[in-house]
Amino acid sequence: MEERQQGSRISGFYKLHIEDRLNELNQRVELSVEEFAALRGSPGLRLDQAEHMIENVVGTYALPLGIALNFQVNGQDVLVPMVIEEPSVVAGASFMAKLVRAGGGFSASATPPEMIAQMQILDVADPPSARLAILEARQELLAEALEIDPVLKKLGGGPRDLEVRIIEASPIGPFLVVHLIFDVRDAMGANALNTAAERLAPRLAELSKGRVHLRILSNLADRRVARARCTVPLDELAFEDFSAQEVRDGIIAAWAFAAADPYRAATHNKGIMNGVDAVVIATGNDWRAVEAGAHAYAARNGRYTSLSAWGKDDQGNLVGSLEMPMAVGIVGGATRVHPAARANLKLMGVESAARLAEVIVSVGLAQNLAALRALATEGIQRGHMGLHARQVAIAAGAQGEQIERLAEQLVNEKVIRIDRAQEILKSWQR
Ligand code: MEV
Repeated sequence: MEERQQGSRISGFYKLHIEDRLNELNQRVELSVEEFAALRGSPGLRLDQAEHMIENVVGTYALPLGIALNFQVNGQDVLVPMVIEEPSVVAGASFMAKLVRAGGGFSASATPPEMIAQMQILDVADPPSARLAILEARQELLAEALEIDPVLKKLGGGPRDLEVRIIEASPIGPFLVVHLIFDVRDAMGANALNTAAERLAPRLAELSKGRVHLRILSNLADRRVARARCTVPLDELAFEDFSAQEVRDGIIAAWAFAAADPYRAATHNKGIMNGVDAVVIATGNDWRAVEAGAHAYAARNGRYTSLSAWGKDDQGNLVGSLEMPMAVGIVGGATRVHPAARANLKLMGVESAARLAEVIVSVGLAQNLAALRALATEGIQRGHMGLHARQVAIAAGAQGEQIERLAEQLVNEKVIRIDRAQEILKSWQR
């Protein structure tokens, strides 16, 4: 059998035709013909598959799928599929992964996959006594929750703990909230959690002498957190007229802005989510859940702030870290139903939800670095110019090889406007 190539570095990948890019992937990862077809989006998600996913289906909706290169997470290379409509994100992640690679790659970790199911109990006459009654029945309740999902039980997952909170100040007065802590293994876990919450409700009503109202998971998955760290060697930071120190200190000052100001933190964290969401979507996971968790976590100390941190080590290298909830799975839901999500998981070679979470948080950190590096130096617009110029060239009517040529001229002239593009096209036709 032909030796497979290894690793996440593929030089000149961006210059290749799409078929050749797929061939490069083919040399690295063993995917079937059907899996490659799923990546290309042909047939992608079939209508009959879509019909089983949501209601009132009339079609499917496509987005670009790109591969971010150069990623090394915990010493292992990984090809990163990203689904996103925004230009520069895939290129930015790949470029930053290259700089980080020079410093040893990303170190990442994930906590055990423990999620929280919430049960709200109303009409409790004596909240402190009800709280104790529930806590006294902790073993019984956990044992009941363990029997709910035999598959999870067999895999070593299941209930871990029970917490009872009294919410004193609310618009309807005091009530109880029970948290069931549940290890969902390699699943995102929403179904297991919601089922468990519903199943425990009648017994909780008896124990508390109250009425169980909401029974639903919490998206503030603060017990299922992923963390990534990276070091960028100082020398890697210099470019054009910008010195390495200037770039490093500029990035740290940009982070300080986000750490101190919620208006900036929202945009800063949006940049992180450009990377995070793109992989979450590519792998068929619930990006709204991850978004909700991220922003709630960013505000967990009462003031919304940056999810990442940047500084320097004692040798002057740039160091960054990111910590955020990461409720993603590799089994269940769309991760298995959507053919491209399945192929993407295989392309990444991830065999646990924890590894997927570690890669995703590393991509988030890379994306954050890409944005801060650009903002702290030349500004964000320059990197967008080439792609923007191509879009303007297409809109002006350029075709085939004209597109690149026209885009290049628009960038050189620093006038990226459709009227100028049309003028140039006309001059070529004379
Ligand atoms: C754009 O999609 C993301 C940025 O605004 C992030 C940031 O400002 O850090 C560039």
